[in-house]
Amino acid sequence: MTTIALSHLLPDASTISQDGIFHIANHSVPALAQAYGTPLYIYDRTTIINACKQYFRAFATHYHASPVRILYASKAYLSPLIAKLMAEQGMGLDVVSGGELLVAQQANFPMERVSFHGNNKSEDELQLALQLGVGRIVLDNWSELERLTRMVRQTGQKGKQPGVLVRVAPAVDTDTHRYLQTGHASSKFGFPLVNGEAKSAILRILSEGTVRLLGLHAHSGTMLRETRPYQECLERLLQLVGEVYAETAWWPEEISPGGGWAIDTPDNSATLAVQILARDLQLSMQRGLTAISSPLPAPTLVIEPGRSIIARAGVAIYRVGARKPTPGGITYLFVDGGMADNIRPALYGALYTAFAVDKANAPLQENVCISGRYCESGDILVEDVRLPFMYEGDLLALPTSGAYCLPMASNYNFVPRPAVLLVDENNVHLMQRRETYQDVLSRY
Ligand SMILES: Cc1ncc(COP(=O)(O)O)c(C=O)c1O
Repeated sequence: MTTIALSHLLPDASTISQDGIFHIANHSVPALAQAYGTPLYIYDRTTIINACKQYFRAFATHYHASPVRILYASKAYLSPLIAKLMAEQGMGLDVVSGGELLVAQQANFPMERVSFHGNNKSEDELQLALQLGVGRIVLDNWSELERLTRMVRQTGQKGKQPGVLVRVAPAVDTDTHRYLQTGHASSKFGFPLVNGEAKSAILRILSEGTVRLLGLHAHSGTMLRETRPYQECLERLLQLVGEVYAETAWWPEEISPGGGWAIDTPDNSATLAVQILARDLQLSMQRGLTAISSPLPAPTLVIEPGRSIIARAGVAIYRVGARKPTPGGITYLFVDGGMADNIRPALYGALYTAFAVDKANAPLQENVCISGRYCESGDILVEDVRLPFMYEGDLLALPTSGAYCLPMASNYNFVPRPAVLLVDENNVHLMQRRETYQDVLSRY
């Protein structure tokens, strides 16, 4: 693929100079690689801001059935600077661990805008959430419900009931990789809907009165290319609300069909606009409310995009260390990163492509396999891509590396993790410094 054909995968502020040098926000990427080393992850601030604005605009224009809140799913990539940026953009934050909560705290993120997800929150993590006053704790299962209830009773702060949501497994099927499905009947996440457990959990919370039930949540999967799973989620949640309302007169303040909107990939550039999601959720909210004919105000709709906010903003830059043609016919380009900074191709077959950073306009001459430096045959970043002839020392860019790469990074083979930059026209921020051997060894 030429770099022009790749433009739908690149950050908004990407340019290629006449001599074929890749720039982000007018910064020469080879110069950044020289200054900060490789592997290097570069995030374009403008792309992140544009993506947030696009969500707000789409819902402001196409969704009128109720108020809307948009939360950034921080598991996609989080740092204090990103948390600050999200706060400035008016986003909420979805976190899933004590660590993510502490990053939010370090960034002074408004805690009332935080939702604490996760399927196995420890007592320490729940304690931290209570102490910080997070807006919502999303209860995933009976153990968590009991744990939190016990903790709140022990501290016994009357009038300070934490706000909770019940996570429901809505039995919604999705057309995505098995590891990316989260809302099916046998999902590890949430109280199952179909066997009545979700309703029982709600009734128990309401009858005990220890925590304050603010609403319901579901998330059917990620890399979703159709609105159907979102719609089914929302309508099933509303149906459940209707049943509970009839029995208890409880009515939710908010309801969420989660996140999961897809992004373009090298093999698929037909991602639907977020406007379509907003429009279809409007239909579902109206349909769901009509079906339960409640006189009460429509609950706030909460959407939780992660990947569609940040994936395209991030580009991974690697330096080629060696090329190895094999008698079997595959020519490898070995780069200085790999599965420890991006496990996604090995974990669930995520597709990436690559281009030459300092000869982006050069003719494409050979098919290569881009493989990492780690001791696994499965350490492959791009199985087959056509590139100009690449030499030792040349730089490669992998677009759409902004989501779920670094958050899942490891120190496999005791290799320190990459540096991360956040750039705009005026600034280059070292968002996360490169790990050192000393960092890696300091735990022993
Ligand atoms: C509960 C929840 N919300 C939102 C998301 C964000 O998904 P995505 O990054 O695909 O938008 C996830 C991702 O797994 C999730 O588990």
